[in-house]
Formats: sequence, C-alpha cells, structure tokens
Amino acid sequence: MTDKGDLIQAAEVFVKKELEHEPSGHDWWHIERVRRLAVLLAEREGADPFICELAALLHDIADEKLNESKEAGVDKVRGWLSDQGAAEDVKQKVLSIISTMSFNGGKNPPMDTLEGKVVQDADRLDAIGAIGIARTFVYSGAKGRPIHLPGQDFSGTDYRSSDKSAIYHFYEKLLKLKDLLNTAHAKKLAEERHQFMEQFLVQFYKEWDLTEERK
Ligand code: ADP
Ligand code: NI
Repeated sequence: MTDKGDLIQAAEVFVKKELEHEPSGHDWWHIERVRRLAVLLAEREGADPFICELAALLHDIADEKLNESKEAGVDKVRGWLSDQGAAEDVKQKVLSIISTMSFNGGKNPPMDTLEGKVVQDADRLDAIGAIGIARTFVYSGAKGRPIHLPGQDFSGTDYRSSDKSAIYHFYEKLLKLKDLLNTAHAKKLAEERHQFMEQFLVQFYKEWDLTEERK
C-alpha cells in the first residue's frame, strides 16, 4: 500500500511531465492552483484533504479535450493509480471525481461526494476572476479564435461550437459558474472574482464601442 505523501509526490511528478507544455490554459500552473484551492476548501468544508489533493492533481489528465476520448483519459489515470499501488478505495474515489466533474455546458449531474464537490469548485474558481479571464484568452488564442465578434448572439446553447470568440465564452460558461458552485466557502471566494469579470466586460465594451469618446 503506497504512503499518502508518496502518492501525492508521484502524482505531482507525473502531471508536471504530462501537462507542462499544454498550450490551452490547462498547464501545470492551472493544476497547482486547483490543488491549492482544493486543499483550502477541503479544510474549510471538512472534506478528506488527501482525496481532494490527489483528484485535483490528476483531474485534467483525464480531460476529454486532451485525450482521444473521455474513457481513454480515465483509463490512463486508472492505469497510473494501479501502477503506483494505490488502495482500491482511493482509486475508486479519485476516478469517480475526475470522470464526472467536467462543466459540459452545465449539463452534468451534481457531484455525489463532498470531495467531488470540493474539487469541482476548485476547478471552477480557477475558471473565473482575473485568472479565468487570462485562461480564456490563452485558450482562444491557442485555437486561433478572435477576441470578440460584435453582433454575436450570446443566448445560444451550442457549447463548444468552433466559430466563437473569447468574449462568447464568458456568456456560455464563465458568468454562469458562480451559481453552479457547491460549497459555501467557494461561493464566498467566487463573489469578488465574478464582480471582476463583470467589471472587465463593462470596460471592454466601453473601449470597443468608444462609448466615452462619442459623448
Ligand atoms: P471543463 O473541463 O470544466 O468543461 P474546460 O476544460 O472546457 O472546462 O475549460 C477550462 C478553461 O479553458 C475554461 O475555463 C476557459 O478558460 C478555457 N476554455 C474552454 N473552452 C473555451 C472556449 N470555447 N473559449 C475560450 N476559452 C475556453
Ligand atoms: Ni482543470
């Protein structure tokens, strides 16, 4: 049976190697921020910090955008945990969290464990606020998409169609996240981050439309 500290350390080495050069905002530093948020939320919410930290470290290894399929991604993590000699219950808990936590247009069912709620909230907090804004423009840039396409209808539900701007992503996802958080502490942390995005959009349109200059 692998020691908890050893498993965390091994996960860190594994994830760094896998995601170090990931160009679309799912790089190592995203993982590190989600890990720190997950540990913080686990403390505040009384969740198991070991499961939260391990799942946070491994969560994007299984992302369907970074693998041939979602199943292939989850299999990769399962294989790695087995190779490390992780206990069955640890394996089952971590795999259950990472295979169900994705945003998926807000359509996935709610997480069924406190640890799952914590890790999902940590990932979502890193998608909003100043860092969320930065990641969104990096992602769009990596996909060759424009900053903004004036006149776009933001009410569409076609999550992940390709001809969308970075600004579109605020409406299809980022601005919805604060109401989709699970835990009380994450909701508290989200308030300032959400306000900052709203303020950003006000300033963005002001500059784009030359609102002040036209007065
Ligand atoms: P999830 O795995 O929760 O579905 P994603 O991996 O799709 O989330 O998104 C992670 C981050 O990548 C987003 O918060 C955003 O910053 C960026 N991103 C994802 N899709 C887009 C997109 N279509 N346009 C701009 N940024 C995106
Ligand atoms: Ni993530």
